[in-house]
Amino acid sequence: MVIIKSPREIALIKEASRVVAKAFERIAPLVQPGVSTAYLNEMIDKFVREEDAFPAELGYYGYPASVCASVNEVILHGIPSEKQILRDGDIITLDLVARKNGYCGDAARTYLVGICGERQKRMVSIAEECFYNAVSLVKPGVFLGDVCHAIEATAAKYGCTVARDYTGHGIGREMHEDPYIPCYGNPGQGMRLKEGMTICIEPMIFEKKNAVRVLKDGWTVLAKDGGLTAHYENTLVVTKDGYEILTKLD
Ligand code: MF3
Ligand code: CO
Repeated sequence: MVIIKSPREIALIKEASRVVAKAFERIAPLVQPGVSTAYLNEMIDKFVREEDAFPAELGYYGYPASVCASVNEVILHGIPSEKQILRDGDIITLDLVARKNGYCGDAARTYLVGICGERQKRMVSIAEECFYNAVSLVKPGVFLGDVCHAIEATAAKYGCTVARDYTGHGIGREMHEDPYIPCYGNPGQGMRLKEGMTICIEPMIFEKKNAVRVLKDGWTVLAKDGGLTAHYENTLVVTKDGYEILTKLD
């Protein structure tokens, strides 16, 4: 069931989303060669709590950290670790959900670590382009299938593929609400967007094939072929004549 949010609820989701945006702003300069993903987790945890919010991924179905940290071929749910030290040329996705006053905001960014090549830069920019092409369609009355299709069509333009088993989603009191928002879709199909829907559009992009494998930790999802992956996500609200992205600072 899709929950249409009241202006008051939208304001609360916006506040939680701001916490996420601010945490990213503060963590970005710390994403450097030589730091561990556990250190980034620790800092993000601190930034979120300083804003009177809670890192909602912590304990979610038993997830053991405050942020998902997914490096290179890991497409999502990488678990931060002291042993995982970032190196020049890595790309790392941080995917963070903050809950504040009972409402959630959710976003993901893929960062270039130190000196990266064209291959890495290209992946980061493709994921962002997929997001913006999809979000640019958002307004009341538009078919969800159109939005989802734009993600895959953009990825395909670059010979990339998209996640099949993991999707974007509605958001509110719960981190994951209806509707589910896949990275692929059929134009003219699915539900129509309505004013007051709060959703997360999150392109998860594979450099090559989208077959995945899950590690024994039960969380880490990675590209079977070892290709690079990138992910870009924002929380947004469908407005009267378009949308407003909530997990970005003005
Ligand atoms: N933040 C993720 C999303 O974009 C969900 C992570 S679930 C967790 O939907 F359990 F890994 F935290
Ligand atoms: Co999400």
